[in-house]
Amino acid sequence: MRPLILALALALAVPVIALPASATATGPGHGSEHGPQRVQDLRDLARKLRINIGSAVDVAVLRAEPDYKARLNREFDHLTAENAMKWESVEPERGVYTWQDADEVVRNARRNGQQVRGHTLVWHNQLPAWLTTGVENGTIGATELRQILRDHITTQVRRYKGQVRAWDVVNEAFDEDGTPRQTIWLTHLGPGYIADAFRWAHRADPHAKLYLNDYNVEWNVPKIEATLTLIKQLQAQRVPIDGMGFQGHLGIQYDYPGDWANVMRRFADLGLEIAVTELDVRMVLPVTPEKLATQADYYGRALSDCLSVRACREFTVWGFTDRHSWVPGWFDGEGSACLLDENLAAKPAYDKLLTTRRVSGR
Ligand code: G3I
Repeated sequence: MRPLILALALALAVPVIALPASATATGPGHGSEHGPQRVQDLRDLARKLRINIGSAVDVAVLRAEPDYKARLNREFDHLTAENAMKWESVEPERGVYTWQDADEVVRNARRNGQQVRGHTLVWHNQLPAWLTTGVENGTIGATELRQILRDHITTQVRRYKGQVRAWDVVNEAFDEDGTPRQTIWLTHLGPGYIADAFRWAHRADPHAKLYLNDYNVEWNVPKIEATLTLIKQLQAQRVPIDGMGFQGHLGIQYDYPGDWANVMRRFADLGLEIAVTELDVRMVLPVTPEKLATQADYYGRALSDCLSVRACREFTVWGFTDRHSWVPGWFDGEGSACLLDENLAAKPAYDKLLTTRRVSGR
């Protein structure tokens, strides 16, 4: 390392030594070491690309592991609570609100100059037992359920008014064949629950960006078409919808969704903001250098696809370290889905992102 860089790093207390080779290299594509192209980390990349780069955050880990916290705050300028803002987390018993974990994410964001994605207001998973049981045994009827949903959205959005940039208002509304997912919301409230949810959220924080969010919309045609149709219907009813979130849970055993940029563009053409909201790229274990190279390619293509669409303004990964990832618990024999390994060392995918450049016109 050159003395000038070392002196600068020490003065700024930037842990340059922990950066991957590509982050400090001055070879082709990196510009001169004093030039505008040198990329330090993902936050630096985000600034240069004029996009937000975010991660899901596990609050228990944020509290318990200082190296996780330091790395999260160094690399990311946008945060999503992995579980802490879900209904079962914020209202485990009826009328008993437990905001500590969700507050922790928002507080961490404020202290570190990060923006926040609120995840998620209306979903069929991770609902509190008092709610699902009440609906199942008939003690909560349709009229009351609608009021409960309205109160939930209003209370949560108001609490973080001005502090959450974007909300995943409705999550995973469709099945794989493009039919509306049969959830307690659809079954008991009818399809109008979606418009209602957006309207209630907008009333509670008129400046927050309100998103529909889903997985497999990167490539699944029936889901893509159904979602586009729904959005057009909502817009025709003047429902305040601002964005489409592509979760982006990918695996290298499947082809990369090569049409993704075009799909993003179709949503952007409706006037929507676009975000990659939960990207990860899993693999069948064991890890090999070849698999890591393919994974790096997928991460890089996902970022390039986002950058190729002007409306795509957030690129969020669903956890940044293999030390804490939902993947091994959900997919037998799969893992290694994140940008950093268990020791927070950069994988080829991380290096690949750092070398991604802005496309002209953005
Ligand atoms: O609540 C219990 C807790 O009391 C207990 O101590 C702990 C012990 O394992 O389990 C806790 O619940 C777990 C919860 O995460 C909180 O850690 C659940 O068992 C576990 O199923 C749950 O998994 C989450 C999953 O959503 C549930 O649907 C994952 O962490 C989370 O990454 C995942 O995230 C979803 C997005 O919200 C929506 N898109 C898909 C994505 C991946 O499935």
